Amino acid sequence: MKVQKRWSCIVFLLLHITQVTWTHGLTKHVLKLTRAFCGFFSERFQVVAPSSVVLAFAGEDVTLPTSLSPAISAQGFDVRWIRDDFDSPVLLYQNLQIRPERQIQSYKGRTTLFLEELLNGNVSLRLQDVRVSDSGVYRCFVDSRSWNEEAHITLTIEGDLVLFFCPFYVTLFYLVFMLFQKLMLPNPQTHNGSCPKTPLNKEFTTQTF
Ligand SMILES: *[C@@H]1O[C@H](CO)[C@@H](O)[C@H](O)[C@H]1NC(C)=O
Repeated sequence: MKVQKRWSCIVFLLLHITQVTWTHGLTKHVLKLTRAFCGFFSERFQVVAPSSVVLAFAGEDVTLPTSLSPAISAQGFDVRWIRDDFDSPVLLYQNLQIRPERQIQSYKGRTTLFLEELLNGNVSLRLQDVRVSDSGVYRCFVDSRSWNEEAHITLTIEGDLVLFFCPFYVTLFYLVFMLFQKLMLPNPQTHNGSCPKTPLNKEFTTQTF
């Protein structure tokens, strides 16, 4: 009997507290706070990029793979790909569209995002017809207005470099070879002087037969 009484007392007290908090709108406040608290955390994200260098040859198309973690949608966010100058981006995505107005001239018509992939947090940059001058560090800023993060990727373009160095090394090799020949091989004139040995050899072989 005593235990039952205590329990009913506790239940009554709890009901009373619930009623009081409800009537004072406290419950609503608590709900609001909880939602804001959770929202605060769900809005946080990281921008993830590979730590290794992305390699490509001149003339190729290349993707700088970058995504949000957790994989939340980046559709409503600002995505800004830059090299050095924040105000002259390689690509700017703002208000649900790519904005080419302030884009660096040399990247015009060569950059894009995978727009359908933004929903999956994929903010990778697609760069077409790459040039040696595209080599360098690219930074990706993602801004949700309540949170922002960035990541960077190094892009190295080869191909033109090889074309540039190849004739250089061929010429160098040729010059070294010529120098070596001059120094090591005997002079053709002295070589001629020892030539008459051949007929003697011929004579010797015919004699043995
Ligand atoms: C993003 O999407 C593109 C196109 O589907 C894909 O090639 C790329 O691997 C994706 N990148 C990441 C980091 O998910």
